Amino acid sequence: MQTMRDAIKKRFSCRTYSDKPIEEKIRQQLALIINATHEGPFGNRPLFRLLNTKLITIAQWREMATYGVIKGARNYLAGIIRPGHMAMTDYGYCKEIIILQATLLGLGTCWLGGTFQAGVFAQAAGLQKGELMPTVTPLGYPAKEKSLIEKIMRRLAGSDRRKPWEDIFFIDVFFKPLPRAAAGKYREALENLRLAPSASNKQPWRVLYDTKLNIFHFFLKRSLQYKMLGIAHLQDIDMGIAMSHFEITARETGMAGAWTVKAKAPKEKTLDYIISWQPEN
Ligand SMILES: Cc1cc2nc3c(=O)[nH]c(=O)nc-3n(C[C@H](O)[C@H](O)[C@H](O)COP(=O)(O)O)c2cc1C
Repeated sequence: MQTMRDAIKKRFSCRTYSDKPIEEKIRQQLALIINATHEGPFGNRPLFRLLNTKLITIAQWREMATYGVIKGARNYLAGIIRPGHMAMTDYGYCKEIIILQATLLGLGTCWLGGTFQAGVFAQAAGLQKGELMPTVTPLGYPAKEKSLIEKIMRRLAGSDRRKPWEDIFFIDVFFKPLPRAAAGKYREALENLRLAPSASNKQPWRVLYDTKLNIFHFFLKRSLQYKMLGIAHLQDIDMGIAMSHFEITARETGMAGAWTVKAKAPKEKTLDYIISWQPEN
């Protein structure tokens, strides 16, 4: 049996899919996962729907609905959320857990927050008034060969590069790099956080480990560019994704703990405080 940590290491943004339909047994497992109740650390409950070729019929239209970025996918996972406090963060957290479970089922996935025609998918998913559908995700078996557009997208986003530890993880005071060795039992949890997918691979998450209080504070370094384009919410989704990677790995490696919002969390003017992870011991 593979673990969710294995899925974190295996997942990548798959943009080219084979013709093979999802096997019935896998489809049923997927349906159980998708239709379960999902709740994020801030208490928001996103909904998920699996869209298939009955809802999205014409092959060419399928591709154009993602501006040609996704090739050959027959199924999409649509995520739906109502506006609320930290709703996007919870959305990212819950959807990434589904994506990792789909990865364990042998499926390829790709978060799409920009390159999809919202109207087309909203209609297919039966989006109601007051509901938002911030992203969609193709699901299917990865093709053997990547399309040219997939290769270009990976190169443009620098998808194969993650920021070095010293740029994103700090110890006790802001911007003092946390050496891998000092992360102790949390080394893999932080390593797997680093593997989280993020919009344009911006990796906007920052973590400050307070060794005296034994607590990890999570911050978001927002891109001005995203604010200006009116897509700042994608980085809140990024944060939720990163939180899920950290928590899954901490729990699977025997480090129990809980998410908590600290009124007296350290402040830094270039970063937004989001939440802290309080280890149990
Ligand atoms: C919230 C979010 C939105 C994204 N939107 C898009 C998108 O619109 N189109 C696309 O091709 N990739 C999109 N991506 C995929 C990222 O480019 C990708 O995760 C990143 O480059 C890292 O590559 P990896 O997922 O293969 O590790 C998105 C990822 C996230 C987390």
